[in-house]
Amino acid sequence: MPERPYVIDEMISAKAIAARIEALCREIADEFEDTDKLVVVGLLRGSFVFIADLVRELDLPIEVDFIEASSYGDGMESSREVRILKDLRSGIEGRDVLLVEDIVDTGHTLNHVTQLLRTRGSARLRSIALLDKPSRREVDFRADWTGFEIPDEFVVGYGIDFAQRNRNLPFIGKVRFTD
Ligand code: PRP
Repeated sequence: MPERPYVIDEMISAKAIAARIEALCREIADEFEDTDKLVVVGLLRGSFVFIADLVRELDLPIEVDFIEASSYGDGMESSREVRILKDLRSGIEGRDVLLVEDIVDTGHTLNHVTQLLRTRGSARLRSIALLDKPSRREVDFRADWTGFEIPDEFVVGYGIDFAQRNRNLPFIGKVRFTD
């Protein structure tokens, strides 16, 4: 990607994210209150900040695991191939699973990983995405919980990168090119 100068405008503050996570965790705790074997699975790399805050707010007995997926276009947007680059350490057959994603865009990644974990025999499988861009959807997929619906803006921070930069911003920002 060519270097272009840009600034980042704050879109969702760290305080707003924390408040939303608190509310979401109350709903998640209700859903999984009867389980003693919840596996919280983060999709690398973008979810690493969100999952860290989420699990510390969840008052449930949990395990944490990670999976990394990458999607490749083949010229036809709607038939993207999703590949698993790094797999789970845990076997999830019969386990209750919460999949944690930073953002749902076309929907291919979360849709594919959800189907994969189902074929592996997960018990209850739910998903949460901090951000959702419904206007970009190419497959019919919706996370069970969403932090914030956003328009089709170029967002960074709180785990999300621009050319591998800015993942460490504590808030969600919008990229604005200045050239
Ligand atoms: C981003 C994001 C989601 C995925 C969403 O990951 O973290 O995993 O794209 O897009 P989709 O709904 O169109 O499938 P990316 O491939 O940029 O990797 P990263 O998480 O390592 O940044």
